Amino acid sequence: MDTIEAAQNLQWTASHMPLMKEIASEFEDTQPFRGVRIGVSLHLEVKTAVLVLALRRGGADVVAAGNYGTTQDNMVALLRENGIDARGSGSDSREEHLATVQSVVESQPDVLLDNGADLMKLAIDLGGLVLGATEETTSGHMRLTTELAELVRVPVIVINDSPLKAIVENKHAVGQSVYESFCRLTNLMPQSRSMLVVGYGWCGRGISHYARANGAHVCVAEVDELKAMEAAVDGFRVGSVEEMIGGVDVVITATGFRNVVGETAIARMRDGVLLANAGHFDWEIDLAAIDALTVERTPLGHTIERHILEDGRTVDVIARGRMMNLAGPQPKGNSIESMDLGFAMQARSLERIVQEHDNLPPGAQPVPDDINRDLARRFVEAAQSSVGRNNGSRARPDRQE
Ligand code: NAI
Repeated sequence: MDTIEAAQNLQWTASHMPLMKEIASEFEDTQPFRGVRIGVSLHLEVKTAVLVLALRRGGADVVAAGNYGTTQDNMVALLRENGIDARGSGSDSREEHLATVQSVVESQPDVLLDNGADLMKLAIDLGGLVLGATEETTSGHMRLTTELAELVRVPVIVINDSPLKAIVENKHAVGQSVYESFCRLTNLMPQSRSMLVVGYGWCGRGISHYARANGAHVCVAEVDELKAMEAAVDGFRVGSVEEMIGGVDVVITATGFRNVVGETAIARMRDGVLLANAGHFDWEIDLAAIDALTVERTPLGHTIERHILEDGRTVDVIARGRMMNLAGPQPKGNSIESMDLGFAMQARSLERIVQEHDNLPPGAQPVPDDINRDLARRFVEAAQSSVGRNNGSRARPDRQE
């Protein structure tokens, strides 16, 4: 896709982001980020472009890097054409990617828009002085409240902790996009395939429900007893990864944790199993253990690799365990409406950090309740108006009573 097509894609996407449209036009008047440099680390794709351009309309000087392996080069080019200092490429090696992320922190941003706490960790290590940050993910929250807990001296609003994001994005949008990505990347029917979903948090719930609704036979592995119980009463067979992996065709991980498909599970996988990950990091499937058993590795198309193991089994892995809904040709990521809501929370929370950083406590904290409620109300209004348009519940000019 060239930049002209990317611009058309941007136009389509922006036209379905009513919350961001409203915020961007307000920002243009109020200029909340005038004189503020925002360092960004996010998946650089079309919906992120809408957010970044709205921040720019609010006066921000934006320096942006993508996440490892998911940067869309045409979007980087388009953002550069629109005055954003967008850096990096989807084909960068891990070392090149880390250097790009470091260069964002070295540009001395005033606030950070982070994804996985990568920027915050570097800002702490390099002694960068930031006023505060927003953090997009569960995984970032985990780092901010464990390894970085004692080191973070500024407020960090964690978008992922908002119930709005959990319900609309992690559950519904990830459920939809993982289903869409399975079909797009494999061109297989999910119907009648047996699938193990690892993790029954917000993402795992969505993945399980959308897969089952589309005919897959789904079972769930979950280590938290309460969530395991929830999965059981939702009608899924529940057990550990090791107990269930031998009976399934497809495994999708969504936990945020390392090696949840580990050595014991790998020993029990059936011949021909397909492994994929939807969690933020590419570490949920122990690929080093699979590689150690592999006698031959063959790329099959853009994103799938077949491993032939020394005992003769074959194992197909999507995108080397990177997030499947951002992998392969033309990845769509999560639905436009869900990202409209998520990015509206980002924009409002960044505005709050800039205005109120002195009055907010240091460390990870949830999206302020007034922002949640205001955006929930606006999201419902926008959704209802679209239902009203489509189901004929409004008076139609062609109908005479
Ligand atoms: P969550 O915290 O709601 O759920 C994770 C679940 O995994 C928990 O219930 C936990 O008990 C379970 N778990 C941990 N270790 C396990 C193991 N060994 N076996 C079975 N279950 C295990 O988190 P959420 O919101 O569902 O996010 C999960 C991951 O997905 C994170 O890495 C997050 O950053 C990522 N994410 C990905 C998105 C995408 O578009 N692909 C979008 C949003 C989040």
